[in-house]
Amino acid sequence: MDSLDLYAKIEPLIGFYEEYERLYEEYLKILKEFDCKKVLEIGFGRGRFLELLKERAYEALGIERSEEMLKRASKKDLNVKKKDLKDLKDSFDCAVAIGDVLNYMDEKTLRDFFKDLKRVLKRGGVFIADINTEFGFEEITQGVMLKDNEDAFLAIEAEFENKKLITDIFFFQKEGELYKKEKARIVQYYYPFEKIVKLSGLDPIDLREFRLFADEADKEILILKNV
Ligand SMILES: C[S@@+](CC[C@H](N)C(=O)[O-])C[C@H]1O[C@@H](n2cnc3c(N)ncnc32)[C@H](O)[C@@H]1O
Repeated sequence: MDSLDLYAKIEPLIGFYEEYERLYEEYLKILKEFDCKKVLEIGFGRGRFLELLKERAYEALGIERSEEMLKRASKKDLNVKKKDLKDLKDSFDCAVAIGDVLNYMDEKTLRDFFKDLKRVLKRGGVFIADINTEFGFEEITQGVMLKDNEDAFLAIEAEFENKKLITDIFFFQKEGELYKKEKARIVQYYYPFEKIVKLSGLDPIDLREFRLFADEADKEILILKNV
């Protein structure tokens, strides 16, 4: 199974949905600030932010790498596609990547990502994304997590070393009398804001600290413009 698909499967067990509502509120505020009307969401996950956009009558499209996430969001009557950014023909006032989506990309992927993003963002269009801070990787995402319910058991071990977070996921799901085991490894990369700005070729507008799971900033929201 693809590692992002296994992540999609276990995400409901991790339980950060309440905290994420606050993050979504922040994005909604920023979209208003920059007068965004047509919005692209990259890596929409379970589609919660697209639902919030729909409630507020935004014209929005979501794209995702994970088939499993796409299946789930498709049931919600949202405008979603499993398209790569490079295959998109539309153009947008604003694009968002919420929940450390950029941290999932290695440097080459990130460089290509921004090349495609610049093509689909209108001139003057804005890109908003949150990235994990070093503190966030070291103190929040790193470590061991165990969760279970009647028919599943989840173990996650994450280690942050050399600016990379390696997360190993082990998921056991009951099938009759036995458990089926699935495992996957997800790698995330730490990027300072300046590095993202350099890779993006976009103009930096703002960088805002965000406290999602701690009293110290574990995330930063970056705002870039396609001038
Ligand atoms: C932590 S989740 C956040 C999901 C969602 N934005 C939310 O708010 O719940 C990160 C998501 O990024 C997606 N993802 C990772 N790399 C991607 C890429 N290159 N293009 C599109 N989606 C990607 C993953 O499949 C996963 O759903």
